[in-house]
Amino acid sequence: MHDETQNITDLLVAAGRKAREETSNTPEPELTQPVQWPVTCTVGPGLEGAIACESKIGYVNGAKGWLIYRGYDIFDLCAHATFEEVSYLLMHGTLPTVKQLKTFKNKLVQYRFLNATLRLLMGFEVEKMNAMAALRLGTNLMRQEFTFVDQEEGRPTTVDAIGADEDSIPMETAPRGERQAIYEFKRSRMAAKKRAGQQLEDAGGIEACYHLISGVATLTAAIARVRQGHMPIEPDPELSHAANLLYMITGQRPSPVEERVMDIALILHADHGMNASTFSSMVVASTLSDVYFSVGAGIAALNGPLHGGANEQVIRTLDEIGKPGNVKAWLDNALNKKIKIAGFGHRVYKAYDPRARILGPLAQFLVERNEGKKTLFQTAHKLEGEVSTRLAAQKGIFPNVDFYSGIVYSCLGIQPEMFTPIFAVSRVSGWSARVLEYLQNNRIFRPRAMYTGEFNNAFVPLAERDKRSH
Ligand code: ACO
Repeated sequence: MHDETQNITDLLVAAGRKAREETSNTPEPELTQPVQWPVTCTVGPGLEGAIACESKIGYVNGAKGWLIYRGYDIFDLCAHATFEEVSYLLMHGTLPTVKQLKTFKNKLVQYRFLNATLRLLMGFEVEKMNAMAALRLGTNLMRQEFTFVDQEEGRPTTVDAIGADEDSIPMETAPRGERQAIYEFKRSRMAAKKRAGQQLEDAGGIEACYHLISGVATLTAAIARVRQGHMPIEPDPELSHAANLLYMITGQRPSPVEERVMDIALILHADHGMNASTFSSMVVASTLSDVYFSVGAGIAALNGPLHGGANEQVIRTLDEIGKPGNVKAWLDNALNKKIKIAGFGHRVYKAYDPRARILGPLAQFLVERNEGKKTLFQTAHKLEGEVSTRLAAQKGIFPNVDFYSGIVYSCLGIQPEMFTPIFAVSRVSGWSARVLEYLQNNRIFRPRAMYTGEFNNAFVPLAERDKRSH
């Protein structure tokens, strides 16, 4: 049936075709082959360009504007899959069979109900808290509801954990860099499972990941409700992950179009290489902390305006500009003042962000059905044109994922302060997948800083410091 959701699929297929026409589809062997440790690479400040590990989960090619999850093009996944299928794919490595998907979805539905956690969370003044702070608190509280790590049998054994002691790693000496896994997550248990032919789902931690994928959605919706002066809404087990999220936020069961759009937005934010929040969650996991703390670290990192916080700023910028006719003057002023325009530029993409190629047409599709958001979209479209003319060729500045996502979420009835938590609802599956993969061959993260300070300072007693500084 060629209904409205089919129109969306057609849009995504067309966007994918256009992207493929404009970019080569040949992977570069030098960027996609096993690492020979120790590895030599050019590293910039902030570890830019550093290779920290191998991964089979996802590939970003910023020069070409590619995003691949487990070998599948993001355009194909957005056009044809659901968030549940993509989360399974990221964590388990293959698209699920019908039976595997059913079991996985049942688990997610079971973990939607966070009654004990919500009771604890509602003891705080959630309506006055920053939404990401409340979400981070909520994930910590989830540990109390379900975590075997707090139970003795779930703790890493001394034998497993012994090599993870930081003191056993040469620190300020030059790193040797050889492949030397010092800890494997529950090594003995995983080895036994491997012998028995069982896969990742048996590894310790996967249940907690399922719990978090569902739970972060429930928490986000509850926070959104409370901030608007309402009570949280009980999850609906009959609805998909995307539809249930919208239902719990808005109180309305979404239309098929709204459900499909939410699903696509969740899919395309799910993973994005070793970005700041993913890396933060992996660093925490590498100390053998647990996945709740890892996800909490990811949420904290995602909160920043240089990362997930930009889409909220985009809506503020568009509101400030007001209408397409004001764009040129606003932009002249912003560029003169060297202000970075929210929703443009990316550390990795120096080509058009493939996620913006998807969200742009989706935003347009939605505003055509929502008169009240038309000016917002037209202003955005005009801003994209002006910024591209001035900065695309010169500096490789294009719209990023955050530029159109805010308009999409606004059309779905989501408040700006909830945009970044919604990002977390999606990215929790990427964080989980990356953490689980890394823990299979764990090595605690420990880069170095180059010490450029002083040596041989003579200690000055407290009482003498004032005298000496005058
Ligand atoms: N608007 C105007 N100019 C920009 C922008 C922008 N958004 N982004 C970069 N530039 C310019 C810089 O001023 C710089 O110019 P110069 O060489 O004349 O000094 C040049 O482009 C390179 O800029 P960098 O800051 O070095 O780019 P970097 O790759 O480090 O930064 C970043 C990437 C942080 C995302 C930056 O583009 C930015 O701040 N964008 C706005 C915030 C944003 O949208 N963040 C969301 C990113 S997507 C995500 O995290 C999910």
